[in-house]
Amino acid sequence: NKGKYEHYMQKEIHEQPESLTTTMRGRLIRGGSCKAKTVLLGGLKDHLKTIRRSRRIVFIGCGTSYNAALAARPILEELSGVPVTMEIASDLLDRQGPIYREDTAVFVSQSGETADTLHALEYALENGALCVGITNTVGSVIARKTHCGVHINAGCEIGVASTKAYTSQIVVMAILALAIGGDTISNQERREAIIDGLFDLPNKIRDVLKLDQEMKDLAKLLIAEQSLLVFGRGYNYATALEGALKVKEVALMHSEGILAGEMKHGPLALVDENLPIVVIATRDACFSKQQSVIQQLHARKGRLIVMCSKGDAASVCSGGACRVIEVSYVEDCLQPVVNVVPLQLLAYHLTVLRGYNVDQPRNLAKSVTTQ
Ligand code: UD1
Ligand code: F6R
Repeated sequence: NKGKYEHYMQKEIHEQPESLTTTMRGRLIRGGSCKAKTVLLGGLKDHLKTIRRSRRIVFIGCGTSYNAALAARPILEELSGVPVTMEIASDLLDRQGPIYREDTAVFVSQSGETADTLHALEYALENGALCVGITNTVGSVIARKTHCGVHINAGCEIGVASTKAYTSQIVVMAILALAIGGDTISNQERREAIIDGLFDLPNKIRDVLKLDQEMKDLAKLLIAEQSLLVFGRGYNYATALEGALKVKEVALMHSEGILAGEMKHGPLALVDENLPIVVIATRDACFSKQQSVIQQLHARKGRLIVMCSKGDAASVCSGGACRVIEVSYVEDCLQPVVNVVPLQLLAYHLTVLRGYNVDQPRNLAKSVTTQ
């Protein structure tokens, strides 16, 4: 049931304040007599010790689910104290890459049925790793075959392009980072800021959804383009990959997410006055580096669309003309949850304006059960 919406993708983008609320329900604990702020993941509480003792945590997934893990990687590294690596499921299998008994392997999958991810799970089980699932589908194969896990509880996702599952996956992995990290005096302030940030996220998503018309106007400008680049780094490298994936899979426009730190090592050659480039430059520890990327793109007359934190429009565009997407600020590690939303809206409007099928892009299936 699409309710008041024309397409499932549109509905699922707009219901993210509610889907995130459901994802977090019962899992964040605030207040009480001692005013403690903590987290609870029922499915993992008996396994946290083993996870903390593992030699490495390796995240495994495909497509959007891989991007969600990539978005959460920095906070997992910061809080868990365990090295975190990333594997695209098919690539792990192609290489028969190393997975050891001392590893915790985390399988991220909306459907819980993706063949590549499932085969990687079987491979990790054979190699004796602790296998953890992060799935949206209760009773799915991946949920059943993993030793333990977390349901993201985002509600049924029907549009082939994953939107609300992506934001719920990142939130679950941020909670996972808090759960593995445990309370110490030294990280107490950071933990509390993240938990407050999580409580506040649905409101921040409501704010950013107000950019709908602005994203439609931007889509009108980009309707006939051949290509769109998206530059990000740090917490928002994944946002660049995910934004580009949405644009290519539904709007059928070539789009590439680029790690901004790699700009000088190749992509800069593409920059001219015609190619549209989205640069994600919201406030975090990488902000000044992104400002210098923007200056260098301005110097080559790049056609820029800059996503920045509210109030930063004038400073990010000081070196030349650009369009700006202003978004609300949240705790840095949660910013990818907010930042992806305008890009989801952009991909949606581009698709409708270009006359393509939003919910059933050509050649794609919601659940990829063949390798
Ligand atoms: C569970 C209940 C939820 C109830 C809550 C109350 C289910 C599915 N969930 O949620 O309805 O409101 O207790 O305390 O009944 N698991 C895997 N692999 C996965 C995902 C999950 O093995 O990929 C396992 C977990 O380890 C756990 C079980 O499935 O044993 C349920 O996981 P989850 O729904 O995340 O647990 P709770 O949030 O505690
Ligand atoms: C993109 C998309 C795909 C899936 C991928 C993995 O919007 O939907 O890239 O993310 O096929 O699917 P799951 O998460 O079901 O394993």
